[in-house]
Amino acid sequence: MIYRGRFCIVLGQDPSVTFGSGETSRPPALPAGFLLGTATAAHQVEGGNTRNDWARFEEMPGRVKGGERSGRASDHWNRVPEDIALMQRLGANAYRFSIEWSRLEPGEDRWDEAAWAHYGDELRRLRGGGITPMVTLLHFTLPLWLADRGGVTAPEFPERFARFAAEAARRFGSLVDLWCTINEPNVQMIAGYIEGAWPPGKRDFADAGRAYAGLVRAHAAAAAALRAGAPGAKIGVAINLVVIEPASRWSLLDWIAARLAARAYNWAFYDSIQSGRVRLSAPGLPWLDEPLPGLAGSADFFGLNYYTRMRIRFAPRSPGMIERRPGPGPRSDLDWEIYPEGLLRMARAAWSRYGLPIYVTENGIADAAGTRRADFVQSHLYAVARAAQEGVPLRGYFFWSLIDNFEWAEGFAPRFGLYRVDYATFARAPAPGSEVFEAWARRLTPAPPLAPRR
Ligand code: FCB
Repeated sequence: MIYRGRFCIVLGQDPSVTFGSGETSRPPALPAGFLLGTATAAHQVEGGNTRNDWARFEEMPGRVKGGERSGRASDHWNRVPEDIALMQRLGANAYRFSIEWSRLEPGEDRWDEAAWAHYGDELRRLRGGGITPMVTLLHFTLPLWLADRGGVTAPEFPERFARFAAEAARRFGSLVDLWCTINEPNVQMIAGYIEGAWPPGKRDFADAGRAYAGLVRAHAAAAAALRAGAPGAKIGVAINLVVIEPASRWSLLDWIAARLAARAYNWAFYDSIQSGRVRLSAPGLPWLDEPLPGLAGSADFFGLNYYTRMRIRFAPRSPGMIERRPGPGPRSDLDWEIYPEGLLRMARAAWSRYGLPIYVTENGIADAAGTRRADFVQSHLYAVARAAQEGVPLRGYFFWSLIDNFEWAEGFAPRFGLYRVDYATFARAPAPGSEVFEAWARRLTPAPPLAPRR
């Protein structure tokens, strides 16, 4: 079965993953105890984050579309109870969010007690409301004091990050069972160090290699700190997985380019965790293969962020020797192809590669008109339910996002929320598609009541 699947994928035509018409409206049930929730990230929703590298980047002309700044974002910092009530209205039993390092440690070695208390209060409210939290420690934004020394390429980054993780475990260990050390290290490296579109705005392959190695080391160090401070908690990294296919089925060079791109982009990080070695090999990037004590076994689950499919063309004169374009299907407002079968394919692939339980840590669509989100939610949750039915140990799914928010270099135009935010008043209103999410949530087998872990 697995062999047949792979064989067909090699031919670029996997008949087992074309959802037939009407098929997604008759989904299997999600497993008992499944976590179904939404995801956000601090800088995108909270507002008032001024001491991180993103805030500074936003000040530079031409960096964010329309010159927009995160500013008050979705004003979530001041609306935590209201936003938890939104989750409850959806029937969600889980929530993934990030705690903002630059708030909690605004100066090196200086903890901000009020900020720690804020997140502690949020965690208690979530648990009290029957919502299991998954906490991300690094969702792209770095404190300025670290950014000024080289950010994720600074030699002290892993140790500084581990110290932050240890503090989070010490304070929140009894409130949090699920930790995500780093969100999308692959995107952070490429957008920040190859495309130069995100902080620190570099286009330098040597630095990209350093960033990658720094992120792997930081994950391993943070995981060790979490294991020590919050024994029994489950740890993962959220990786942005893209279905990567050759642009032309008839070009051997496109095939090779697609394969190498997929290996570097989708799999390098967890391949490193699996082997216990910091490994990277892709055209243009430094070749890395170094042992790292503590790396092997540092993840208990695979965090799967899935949005889209790309086609890759071999292009010797382009950076990394590839060009990419969206897959052939319909597209979201950000021109990302909508390809629900891809979520099933990636869940199967991550499971067969690593044998770890999987959480879909992000999946969503920019859809300002609200015409595509309902189908998107239905078809992607169908993919999840079907993967689980096949035996892939899928433990949870977090829709991106609870509310509209600041979409990095794209600014506020993309609308990802199950709740629409009116940025003049910060009022929230259900967006089309939220009713589909809610219907799935209402069919969940209730999770056992939450109890303190120790
Ligand atoms: C992911 C990011 C998240 C959000 C979504 C749309 O790559 O992790 O912060 O921007 O894309």
